[in-house]
Amino acid sequence: MTNEISIDDTMTEKTGTSERALPGDSSEGSSPTGTGVIETRAMSVFYGNFQAVADISLNFTPNEISALIGPSGCGKSTVLRSLNRMNDLIPTARTEGEVMYHGENIYAEHVDPVEVRRTIGMVFQKPNPFPKSIFDNIAWGAKINGFKGSKTEMADLVEEALRGAALWDEVKDKLTESGLSLSGGQQQRLCIARAIATKPDVILMDEPCSALDPIATLRIEELMLDLKENYSIIIVTHNMQQAARVSDKTAFFNVKMSDEGMRTGYLVEFSKTDQLFTSPREKDTEDYITGRFG
Ligand SMILES: Nc1ncnc2c1ncn2[C@@H]1O[C@H](COP(=O)(O)OP(=O)(O)OP(=O)(O)O)[C@@H](O)[C@H]1O
Ligand SMILES: [Mg+2]
Repeated sequence: MTNEISIDDTMTEKTGTSERALPGDSSEGSSPTGTGVIETRAMSVFYGNFQAVADISLNFTPNEISALIGPSGCGKSTVLRSLNRMNDLIPTARTEGEVMYHGENIYAEHVDPVEVRRTIGMVFQKPNPFPKSIFDNIAWGAKINGFKGSKTEMADLVEEALRGAALWDEVKDKLTESGLSLSGGQQQRLCIARAIATKPDVILMDEPCSALDPIATLRIEELMLDLKENYSIIIVTHNMQQAARVSDKTAFFNVKMSDEGMRTGYLVEFSKTDQLFTSPREKDTEDYITGRFG
């Protein structure tokens, strides 16, 4: 079983909590420390004795799209999953350092990881609708996250989420059909609708377009640009054109080999996307973006 599948499965079962109770939530958009929406401080992630990434310090600005790029195995997914404690679902995984959400450490003892994952939602590489109707894909997710409105309010929420994910016009006449009957691109937008129905603040996306054709990919990219009005988005992508098209800032990661032969990922630079792709600060970044890498 791959990581992605085991995480998806676990998420399907474990998403429920009711209150928006994450510490720092009351600060509504501005952080007590004046920092970004999410800030990692000297974060390292281990799988057992293996150090997958070291000393990652990143500060994500609200209402921006931030892209994480770098060669396979450099730890992009590991970093992304640490931002909403999704790595907790991998038994061997351990995170060191701090991940601040509006100035509060999401790894602090009193923080409920389920609430963290609702506030900082995630969309996966492979669209993973529930085997339920289009309507229920959204209604069910909202219900287990504590939505207690009337039938009409639920219908309104479903419509709002589907409109928010630019899917409403395509599915409004077939809400009772299975989510699995949709095309790949539509399924991914359904998953985005499901994520936004629980009113997150941040949406993490791990290669959300890698299973999609170019047209569906462009739809998702347009959608991301709309969504950033209301959400902060952090996306892992292998597609440098995509990073250049949609993101405001880009973080480039690389891997270094320790004396013991351990391949550990690290952050090379985190810059405005325009700058990173036109005049990167680091030679390693330049080599990567110009294809002179590895
Ligand atoms: N569940 C796990 N158990 C043990 N090691 C893991 C696990 N998940 C990832 N790793 C290891 O951590 C390192 C970083 O993996 P990660 O999946 O974060 O990289 P990535 O940059 O997302 O790669 P890709 O671009 O191929 O998706 C790799 O060496 C990988 O083998
Ligand atoms: Mg990955």
